[in-house]
Amino acid sequence: MAPHELKSLVRTIPDFPIEGIQFRDITTLIGHGEGFAATVDWLAERVRGSGAEAIAGMEARGFIFGASVAAKLALPFLPIRKSGKLPCETIGVDYALEYGSDRLEMDPASVVSGQRVAMVDDLLATGGTACATATLLRKAGAVVEHAFFVIDLPDLGGAKKLSECGVATAALMEFE
Ligand code: PRP
Ligand code: ADE
Repeated sequence: MAPHELKSLVRTIPDFPIEGIQFRDITTLIGHGEGFAATVDWLAERVRGSGAEAIAGMEARGFIFGASVAAKLALPFLPIRKSGKLPCETIGVDYALEYGSDRLEMDPASVVSGQRVAMVDDLLATGGTACATATLLRKAGAVVEHAFFVIDLPDLGGAKKLSECGVATAALMEFE
């Protein structure tokens, strides 16, 4: 399926979760089998080209795409979790969102020192989540140079923020 067809499968919900946000909802994209498969294929091709040895996905929507790509490429998947979910000892980082703030945590033992880890998520907005994830992964010893997204909202400046934090980005589609 062509990128413009995949873009037409993303649903836009105005004023969610707060007034003024145009929520780009991937539920309708992953609910379309062929569209979901084509999206995972697009991400997998980029991850393969990046030379990544493992994939990190951010809870929750990053799990859907990150884990699918990891399984397709037979790479390890590292879940980056919201606060208080992991049963083991964790390292964590606080970060700001387009609409609020949150905390991400991971098991530091899930990374081999020097391992090249690519990040995969559904959407790049301000870049806060991905930048915080890169910081966390690097704290655990990973080399983080690439992030791949289904959707980029370029007006929010996420790609620039990530480039300042040493991460190159690519996205399958953009929304104003
Ligand atoms: C969304 C999205 C990205 C992040 C992008 O996740 O899935 O992870 O926001 O925003 P940013 O670039 O400004 O950081 P959210 O925290 O809403 O969590 P969810 O996946 O659990 O819905
Ligand atoms: N995460 C951050 N901003 C978002 C948006 N506008 N739509 C969907 N998810 C988001």
